[in-house]
This record gives sequence, structure tokens and C-alpha cells, in this order.
Amino acid sequence: MYHSVIAGIGHYLPDNIVTNSDLEKLMDTTSDWIVERTGIEERRHVVKGSGDSPSTMGTKASRIAIEKAGLTPDDIDFIIFATLSPDYYFPGPGVMVQDQLGIKEIGALDIRNQCSGFVYSLSVADQFIKSGMYQNILVIGSELHSGGLDMSTKGRNVSVIFGDGAGAVVIQRTEKEAVGILSTHLHSEGKYAEELALIGPNTGRWVPEIIANANSEDLSYYPYMNGNFVFKHAVTRFSEVIIEALQANNFQPSEIDLLIPHQANLRISQFIQKKMGLGEHQVFNNIMKYGNTTAASIPIALSEAFDQGKVKSGDLVCLAAFGSGFTWASALLKWQ
Ligand code: UT7
Repeated sequence: MYHSVIAGIGHYLPDNIVTNSDLEKLMDTTSDWIVERTGIEERRHVVKGSGDSPSTMGTKASRIAIEKAGLTPDDIDFIIFATLSPDYYFPGPGVMVQDQLGIKEIGALDIRNQCSGFVYSLSVADQFIKSGMYQNILVIGSELHSGGLDMSTKGRNVSVIFGDGAGAVVIQRTEKEAVGILSTHLHSEGKYAEELALIGPNTGRWVPEIIANANSEDLSYYPYMNGNFVFKHAVTRFSEVIIEALQANNFQPSEIDLLIPHQANLRISQFIQKKMGLGEHQVFNNIMKYGNTTAASIPIALSEAFDQGKVKSGDLVCLAAFGSGFTWASALLKWQ
């Protein structure tokens, strides 16, 4: 039986740092409010014209992941790209990465599961590996939020949170037992689809209609989030899906070496940590530096944790995410 291991990880962040004080100049907010409610001190925003896009950032992260896996782009036999901010409405950025990496005509798949997109993508990759179909799958999470945020006071509850960046992993086939991805757990609850969503443009409002009624006050082109509602669901679902992963593999929370929660809000991570009785050293957070990078947040955090020596051979690593959809998911890994 085949199993999936993470053979290489990489991340890329645009250089441009946007501090809370920078945001104070654009909208009615304070650094104290942002830090107190979210833990975020700064985030990265792509500078328009820099050449950074979801696909190019994903490609930069991928090159690092592929190199760290000891491979070349030609060794990759499938691409999975998770994002809610694709370069174009269509086609998705997976094919652009295939082109930018100069890889032969392999398959490329785009995943639209927002904050849980990376964990969903890992799960898809794991099934392809287990079935024997592929040997080295590139899984990418990349987001360029900054260009689509309402940076006025009207959008402040959303725009102070989100940042840009990309992370990537190479998922590789192994025949070793009890290593790599032990299990993945996926959930959704579509009745809350509009509690965290970007509604416009959509197929119910046709392009000629939109053009004829062009209206700069139309907020449907910005992300909407019912913050309190999302927060309450997040803390419940995160805990549930982490426990589900542990129970499926007969582990206790105390046995987790590192939990990497999707970086939605530092208060959410702290709430989960407390609820599950985990110590500081068992939970990795970097939202303070990068904000919420949606599908990119887990691979960026995993990459940083690995670079800092916080993920070692034999470690039990849990990845968990919750977000728009609502969708939520977890993956439990035994580091190879
Ligand atoms: O990654 C996907 C999943 N996302 C999440 O899990 C995020 C979940 N939600 C949250 O993280 C929090 O709900 C937020 C950080 C978005 C908001 O924090 P909150 O404590 O829920 O604030 P709130 O929306 O209840 O707003 C409290 C007050 C309001 O003012 P009034 O009505 O009490 O006068 C807001 O207008 O804070 C105001 N406010 C702000 N003030 C300064 C909202 N945003 C800001 C801001 N700066 N940026």
C-alpha cells in the first residue's frame, strides 16, 4: 500500500510590509483594535506592477518545495492549486504554474475551498498517491487578497485581516508504513455560504447588466464576513475536526507535537489551544506577521515551522482549517 509524505516545502511572501499604522492612515481603525481582536501586527501586500500574482507567487513557493524535495520540475506528475483569488476568473492558476515551471503537459487541478482549500488539496493528493496514479504531486496554496479589499472604513472588519502570500509542498509516494498523511477529514455546511463570501460578479447578474448599472457603491465586489458568526462556528468546528483526526488514529491531544491551525485570527488559535489543553509549544502561529492568507496560510506556516526546526522526524503534526463555505478540514501526519 502506498502512503503520502511531504517531501519538500516552500513559501513565498511579497516584500511589501503593511503595518497596522499604515492602515490607520487609510481607514478609521487603530493598531490596538487590530492587535487586540486579531493578534495581527503586519501583513504583506503585493505592489501592483511587481509581477507577483497568485500563480507567480505559487510558482516561486513551488520551486523551493521542489528543490527541497531533491527533485526537478520534470519529476512532478500532477498539480493541485488552492486559492480563492485566482489570477483570472477562468482558467484557474494550476495550468499557469505548469507553464511557469516549464513542466510537460501533466494534469493541473484547481481547488475552490477558501481557508480549508489547502487541507482539501492534501486530501485529494493523498487519494491520488494511495491509488498509485501519481508519484510526486505539487500542492499549492496562494492568495492575492490585497487588490480586492475595500480599504475604506466600510471594509475595515475584513480588510485589516487579510494578507498575500503562497506556500507549496511536494506530496510524494512512499511504501513505508505509518508515516506521512495518516488521515484527512473534510466537512461543509453550505447553508452558511453567504456568511463569508464575495458575491459579485456572479452568474445571476449578467455582465451586460453589471456594465449598464456600474455602481462604485456596490459592495458585492468586496468580501463580506459576518465576523462574530464566523468566529463562533470556527472555534467549534476547529476543535471538532482536530478531535476527529486524533480519534481516527487513536491519539490524545497531548500527543500532538505541532498543531498548525489555519491562521484566521490569533484569538481563534488561542481559544482552540486552551479548549484542547495544548501547551504554547504545541501550536504554531505566524498570523502576527502575515495576517490571514486563506489557502496559503497553512503551507506558509508549515514551511516556517519546518525551517525553524519545529517539525522533526517522528513528530505528530495536525493541520486544521475552517472558513468560507462553511468548509472545514483536518489532516494528521506522522513526519517522515
Ligand atoms: O479565515 C476565514 C475565517 N475567518 C475567521 O475565522 C474570522 C472570524 N471573525 C473574526 O476574526 C472577528 O469577528 C473579527 C476580527 C473580524 C471582528 O472582531 P469582533 O470582535 O467580532 O468585532 P465586531 O465585528 O463585533 O465589531 C466590534 C466593533 C464594531 O463597532 P461597534 O458596532 O461596536 O461600534 C465594529 O464596527 O468594532 C468595530 N470594528 C472596528 N474598529 C476598528 C470592526 N472592524 C474594525 C477595525 N478597526 N478594523
